Amino acid sequence: MIKSLALAVAMGFAAGTAAANPYTEAVDASRPDAEALQQARKQLENPRAKPLTQPLFVPPFHQQAAREERVTSFCRDCHGHAPHHRSARKRAFLNMHGQQIACETCHWRPEGISLDYERVPGMAEEFIAPLVNGKPVMTMAEEPWARRLAQDWEKADKEERVEIKARLHKPLEEKGPDCTACHDDRKGMLDWRRLGYEAGRIRELQENPIARFLQRTEPKTAQDPVIRIELRDLLE
Ligand code: HEC
Ligand code: HEC
Ligand code: HEC
Repeated sequence: MIKSLALAVAMGFAAGTAAANPYTEAVDASRPDAEALQQARKQLENPRAKPLTQPLFVPPFHQQAAREERVTSFCRDCHGHAPHHRSARKRAFLNMHGQQIACETCHWRPEGISLDYERVPGMAEEFIAPLVNGKPVMTMAEEPWARRLAQDWEKADKEERVEIKARLHKPLEEKGPDCTACHDDRKGMLDWRRLGYEAGRIRELQENPIARFLQRTEPKTAQDPVIRIELRDLLE
């Protein structure tokens, strides 16, 4: 905790002076094309039913934790805590991963930039985040860049929001990596040892049967059957 805090201060989060990172620089430089703007326009005109914005009644202790987390990540300011909904097979797992893995790890993987992954302190806990030349690429909601963007978004009219949405997402990947990009025994995205996992745990994570099953049975085309697991199957 002390180490994390010191690192956070060193990185400027606590002082609110964190320098721009390659993602925020890419957003500032991005000029979305007509297609990206059209996609953003469609999305903003047809927002999906809003999930709960207030937590259900939970004891104050948990409410506090939820609030603390909410100020952590720039992405979560808009996407909330369960951003994944499309893939009924994977969404629970993806949302679970978001509690320990920065969004950027899975959604910011630009070509031609060499990335490492390391545990990086957020406000309350650490996240596995990408590093470029030793500097973490994880944008926090309280950074000046993110605050400014949030203000622009608040003030923006419909067409300006379309533009902001498109710019923000241009450097990002719509789909994250396959489950087996990490849960596999070949050399995957993550260096498990560097992240502090012990040999037995590494084997467990590499051979994770759920990740492997979901990847193996992922429909490749719209015609492929969707294989669902039912609790019954597991109990037989
Ligand atoms: C200002 C609000 C806002 C912020 C901040 C934001 N998003 Fe989004 N994002 C949206 C909206 C609006 C959509 C389109 C509708 C939807 O999927 O909710 C979207 C869609 C997406 C999609 C689906 C693909 C696409 O481009 O439509 C991904 C993936 C995504 N966001 C990831 C992220 C990540 C990662 C971050 C942080 C680096 C982030 N978003 C920050 C508003 C935001
Ligand atoms: C472990 C990797 C991983 C992490 C971490 C992750 N995502 Fe995703 N995300 C994915 C994958 C994979 C998909 C595509 C799912 C599909 O449709 O198959 C996706 C899709 C999305 C979408 C499109 C909507 C949907 O329901 O699929 C949004 C929005 C999104 N992610 C936002 C985020 C945000 C915000 C964070 C951080 C809180 C985040 N993601 C963290 C892997 C990840
Ligand atoms: C970016 C790398 C990455 C991707 C992609 C990824 N995972 Fe994970 N996964 C992790 C990490 C890291 C953990 C360990 C978290 C911890 O320390 O407990 C984990 C843990 C898990 C666990 C818990 C295993 C256990 O023994 O505690 C399951 C289940 C899992 N992942 C399934 C999936 C599925 C299903 C997908 C695809 C939808 C997926 N993962 C994609 C990195 C990833």
